[in-house]
This record gives sequence, structure tokens and C-alpha cells, in this order.
Amino acid sequence: MTDGPGLRIPRRLVAAEPGWTTSADVIVVGSGIAGLTTALRLRQRVDRVLLVTKTVLHEGSTQWAQGGIAAALDPGDSPQEHLHDTLVAGCGICDVPAVTALVHEGPERVRELVALGAEFDLDDAGELKLTREGGHHKDRIAHAGGDATGKEISRALIAALHRVQDDPGIEVIEHALVVDLLQDEESRVCGVTLHVIGEGQMDGVGAARSRAVVLATGGLGQVYSATTNPSVATGDGMAAALRAGAVMADVEFVQFHPTVLWLGPGSRGQQPLISEAVRGEGAFLVDRDGVRFMQGRHPLADLAPRDVVSRAIVDRMLETGEDHVFLDARHLGREFLEERFPSIVARCRELGFDPATELLPVAPAQHYASGGVRTDLVGRSTLDGLYACGEVSCTGVHGANRLASNSLLEGLVFAHRIADDISERMAGGQLPQADPAVEATDGTLATGTAPADEVAPGEDAALLDGSARVQVQAAMTAGSGAVRSAESLATTALALQGLALAATSSEPGPESWETTNLLHIGQVLTLAASLREETRGGHLRSDHPSQVDPRWRGHTLVVRGSDGTLSTTFEPVPEQDLA
Ligand code: SIN
Repeated sequence: MTDGPGLRIPRRLVAAEPGWTTSADVIVVGSGIAGLTTALRLRQRVDRVLLVTKTVLHEGSTQWAQGGIAAALDPGDSPQEHLHDTLVAGCGICDVPAVTALVHEGPERVRELVALGAEFDLDDAGELKLTREGGHHKDRIAHAGGDATGKEISRALIAALHRVQDDPGIEVIEHALVVDLLQDEESRVCGVTLHVIGEGQMDGVGAARSRAVVLATGGLGQVYSATTNPSVATGDGMAAALRAGAVMADVEFVQFHPTVLWLGPGSRGQQPLISEAVRGEGAFLVDRDGVRFMQGRHPLADLAPRDVVSRAIVDRMLETGEDHVFLDARHLGREFLEERFPSIVARCRELGFDPATELLPVAPAQHYASGGVRTDLVGRSTLDGLYACGEVSCTGVHGANRLASNSLLEGLVFAHRIADDISERMAGGQLPQADPAVEATDGTLATGTAPADEVAPGEDAALLDGSARVQVQAAMTAGSGAVRSAESLATTALALQGLALAATSSEPGPESWETTNLLHIGQVLTLAASLREETRGGHLRSDHPSQVDPRWRGHTLVVRGSDGTLSTTFEPVPEQDLA
């Protein structure tokens, strides 16, 4: 199946000719749990690792993770039970081998993180304290600093990196935005072009060559007006992989977190998250009349999987005509709340809400991309030499809806698998350094040189001006957001296409690259969402409201062809026993 003639994605972003070059065995892009873990493990196995990150090391989504990291660490729990909860949350389209790897390797990876120096919260016996979140039938969420798990993991990994920073085997470049992927004439990925805000030799656009590239660039939250993601989450890695011709999977499955503090109509950008762990400790949702609407809706009530809770909130908001509901945590008591959730309580108070004495207004907002760059069990994308790890990837572990606190775990487990695969392949001579090709105007690749700003196909390739970001976000939120229909998706697709066609030659630079990345991701997401005519997990279609349609039990795959058009295929998944 191919989309209509209007939608074409350029091969690469307009950028200046690289003014400097560097090289490494492996380039890791991103410095959250996925990127740092990959780089640290690789450095013990290959000669030269280059870690690049868009701003500074700690600035990604990892440090914002509150709830924790899920793993069957309790003697009364088992990987099999974790597997079952993950498959149920994923609504029948997780890939079982990927989930099996996640849940069986997870406990050991978490213990290694502790050994590396991450200080998790412990009980009186010195064991990891474990809590529960939506969709879990056992207490299996390890946490740190109460509600600051991501911050502690990030601290520990960055400290580990600093301990080896003088090692010639690893180099870190901060303030480095990856623009596009370098490829040889067979489309093998052999490096990146990147823009560094630096000094001296590495300043401006450069080319970094390598035998493999690992994208660990996180999510795409900024494609929506309101998200829990930080401002850096502009889908850069996903967009670069898409333009290079990597297959994208399940991008329509966007998770909207049920309890994001509602700050009034028109609130934009990163919004404050109220962790699911607050409900895990006993808080519950009520409507404006104080009615607990999750009871009777699902056997797990307020701790149902995230998509179920978000959908119930959307329904209740439609029924009451309100734009939010409330979270009641008052009965947990001031002392408990301050000790268990210090960051959330402090942030709420800064914003004028006291969870110990008041109901908290909450509404769903974008939180996580369950789909992304399609990868196999060792993190390989469909392009040789390109790997993806963490939120940017679609390993198949999340299906239609990620189970709470499985994301940090996925980053850890697959980072190890990727580092091991790359080092084994290098040792076996399977990842030679290839020469980047240049692109002809018909979009094909060939060796030789061509002007770096030549982009094929031409007429829709101009960069979007940074000021168009709000228009992309508004169009995506209105039609491709928490609730979608054929009509709303068509309106969004048209609006995005209009922005693409109206784009004039904006000055190349971080603002216009990020905004154009958001446009490309928005276009792919809207296309995939319009194909899937059912409601499943994070994909809620008001024109197909009843739960999952068995004909859609599978993955939607989207790929950009050499002429810039997108083609889509559907890959069925074997039926799973979710009873
Ligand atoms: C939360 O703390 O509710 C978010 C955890 C997650 O996204 O898994």
C-alpha cells in the first residue's frame, strides 16, 4: 500500500557542507539510560566509541522518569508473570521473544545498575523496596529518591562515564544535534552528519564516520502541544532513520499518561507528571462530583493499564463537559506523601496545589512513543549498520501500549544486547567502515561528491521555520492526539502537508531542523493512525470505538522509498493467550 501522491519526505535535511570530520568505531547518539548503557558497555569491547548528545549529558527524558524500573526481583514474583502483564498491557501485539528477553534479563540488569552505583530505595532489611503501578499484578517497581528514579539512574551512569572519561577509547561531544545519517551506496549506515555548538575544530556542521550507529535519541513528545517529555524530545533520531529508509513500526501507538497535572486550557510544552506510583500507593481518580469512575470499569480499577485509565478519563470528561478530572491522594497523609513523593509534592506546591489537602486536577497528556524504528532482538534496524535503543526504537516489547516502568528496563536490556552484537560482528569483520555515498536528484545513492544542500526529491524539501512548530503541534493535537477519527486524521494530514508545501527556504539550524523533524514524524504517525481502523491500546479511534478488531492484530510498518513516498505494510502477530 502506498500513500497518495502528495506526501513525500526528503532524503535529508538542508544543511551546510560538513566543515569538519571525525571518526569512531561506533557512534552512540543520546545520553539517557539507553545511550549511556550502550556506550559504557561498548567501550569495554571496541576501540573507539563516540557518544554525542543534543544538549548536555543529563538533559534527556531519563532524568524525568519518576515511577521506577520494573523487574521480577521479589522471590514471590517471576519473569513469567511480568511477561503476562506486559502482553496484556500491549493488547495482543507485543512480540513475545522480545518481551521474554526483557523480563528474563531484566532482574540481572537492575542488579548490575545497583552494583554500578545507582542508589535505589531500600527497605529495613536492606532489600530493594518494590511498589506497584498500573497493569502490574505484583509489586515489581524499584524506585529511587522516592519519585526521582530516572534522576538517580542518570546520575549513576554519568558518574560511571566520568570515571572513564580520560580513557582514549571513549569521546563525548555535548551540544551535538544529529542532522542525518551517512550511508554508502548500498544504504548501509556509516556515520552521521551533526551540528555542534562548540569551539575550535568541531563547530558547526560536521561529518562523523563509523562502522555502526546506535540511535538512543528518545521520544517525540514535542510533536504535541502538551507532553510530559522535555523540550529535547523532538523525534530527531526517528526522523533521521525514516529519511534514511529504515522501517518504522507501530508509530500510531502513542501513550497518553492519565495523570498529568492540569494547568489550565492552553498549557503548552512539558507538563508536570503525577506518577502512577501515587495510585500504586492508594490514590484514586474522581470526577467533579467525587465519583470514583474507575471502579467497575476494570478489575484493577485505578491501577488498570494506562490506556484503559486514560480512555476512562477521556470518556468522563466528555460526559461532564470538563477538561480534567481529579486525583485524590489526601488520605495518604502529609508525612507519607512528602517522604514517598518528595519531588511531586514540591512541584505541586510550587504550582499552587497541595496533594495532602487538595484534590489534584489531572488530564491525560502525551507521555511515550510505543512505536519507532523497527529493530530485531539485538537492536538491529532494517538498515545495516544502524541500531536503535530505548524509546526511539520499536523492539516489539510494548505492543499497543507500554506497561508502566518497562521503558527504563527496555533501555538497559537492549543496550546490552546491542553492545554485544556490535562487538561480536566487528570482531568477525562484519561491520567494515564504508564510504558515504552522495545522493542523486532522483534520490538514489552513488559514490562521488555533490553539493551538501542538494535534497531529493526537491519541491517539498524546504525546512520549516522554527515558528511553525506550534502549528505542527496544534494540528497533531487536534487530529492525531488522544482521540482520533478518519476525519480528524485527514484534516491533520492536510494541515501538515500544507505546512510542508508552504515552507520556504528557512535558515538551516537547530530550530528549523527540529521543527522539520517534528513535521516528518507527525506525517508518518498520522498516516499509520489513519490506516488502523480500530481502537487498541494507545490508539483510540472515535469512529471505531469498540475494543480491538482481530483483523488488526499486528504491526503497521511504514518505510520511505527512494522517491520520497511512504509505503505501508501490515504484519500480523500470532494470537496470544491473554486470559
Ligand atoms: C510514572 O511514574 O507514572 C511513569 C512511569 C512510566 O512511564 O513508566
